[in-house]
Amino acid sequence: MALLISYSSLTVHISCSASSQNTFSSPSILKKLKFPRFWPWQKVKIGPLSVSPMGFGTWAWGNQLLWGYQESMDNELQQIFNLSLENGINLFDTADSYGTGKLNGQSEKLLGKFISEFPVLLLEFQGNKQVRDNIVIATKFAAYPWRITPNQFVNACKSSLERTQLEQIGIGQLHWSTANYAPLQERALWDGLVAMYDKGLVRAVGVSNYGPKQLLKIHDYLKARGVPLCSAQVQFSLLSIGEDQIEIKNICDSLGIRVIAYSPLGLGMLTGKYSPTNLPSGPRGILFRQILPGLEPLLNSLRQIAQKRRKTISQVAINWCIGKGTIPIPGVKSIKQAEDNLDALGWQLNSDELLQLDYAALESPRKMVQNIFQTR
Ligand SMILES: NC(=O)c1ccc[n+]([C@@H]2O[C@H](COP(=O)([O-])OP(=O)(O)OC[C@H]3O[C@@H](n4cnc5c(N)ncnc54)[C@H](OP(=O)(O)O)[C@@H]3O)[C@@H](O)[C@H]2O)c1
Repeated sequence: MALLISYSSLTVHISCSASSQNTFSSPSILKKLKFPRFWPWQKVKIGPLSVSPMGFGTWAWGNQLLWGYQESMDNELQQIFNLSLENGINLFDTADSYGTGKLNGQSEKLLGKFISEFPVLLLEFQGNKQVRDNIVIATKFAAYPWRITPNQFVNACKSSLERTQLEQIGIGQLHWSTANYAPLQERALWDGLVAMYDKGLVRAVGVSNYGPKQLLKIHDYLKARGVPLCSAQVQFSLLSIGEDQIEIKNICDSLGIRVIAYSPLGLGMLTGKYSPTNLPSGPRGILFRQILPGLEPLLNSLRQIAQKRRKTISQVAINWCIGKGTIPIPGVKSIKQAEDNLDALGWQLNSDELLQLDYAALESPRKMVQNIFQTR
């Protein structure tokens, strides 16, 4: 992949001679000064929280089945976390169900470890010890069939707090609604969210995989209980955009709810690195085999714009989500991917480019499969 230079990725190297050491008390920390990826006023409000225009998703951090996680990756994942913070990313999405088998909760645990081990020297250098305090962990509570009382959700939240070693979760989100298959359980989820907010265990509350109808219902219910619904996480990308996503976005805009776009890279299909003859191993390969053959028009448009902009396909796909007014949370598994995705910030597709991509997405014969937990 070509190295692309944008103003946001320029790095200023400062050599520290003996004399300059008199000027700077910690010269080693000043090895690299970077232009910010985005300016403070470009931060986005989620209720009382202020977050970067893009967050990172951590589903892969502990998931062996779909994402091929191994504990040997932890060192690199920690570097990704540190790099993200150094570049102003302060939103990390996770869930209490992330991590396969024995590794259940691994994503939350790793985040907890990485937060607590984030280099203090760096915090001092940035003159902002609040970097750590400003981290927003957005976790999701699974609507497991055995979680049938509000208190069980409060306990789930306490377990997430333990794993993340935090006193408060940034955004506590319901992972999915049970309205489709266990409507009676739904009230326990909602009351659980109210209880964890009232107890101060979460700073803000959100939902995930709620469709337009359920979204309105829970919004009204929470409002009546004095709890603002701050975010709605939904599968949102050039591969999943459809009437539902547009309706959800419109509802959220009218109610002051922030849309968090998950799987913004279509699980990797919108990076341009996979093709019908180059598929990932495991279950993703089966899915991609069905979708990728129809994706050429969309990938061509992405490629065209990427070349013109001197960006990568992934950066354009992520930037499209931002252009649509959402906060994308691409998943990252390597430093290279994190660096690449960071350069989705600091610039913006224009309206013609957004439109070209909208049309190309419409022309794609196959879309991503809808999350089975997504409701109407
Ligand atoms: N609420 C929900 O129900 C729900 C559902 C799904 C996801 N999410 C959240 O959304 C986050 C993101 O979604 P996702 O992880 O499903 O999919 P995604 O962001 O669409 O794709 C992420 C994957 O694409 C590849 N990739 C990422 N950046 C790349 C780059 N610059 N170049 C090349 N390859 C790159 C990596 O996988 P490979 O290298 O293996 O290809 C990475 O794991 C998750 O981590 C999770 O936090 C929430």
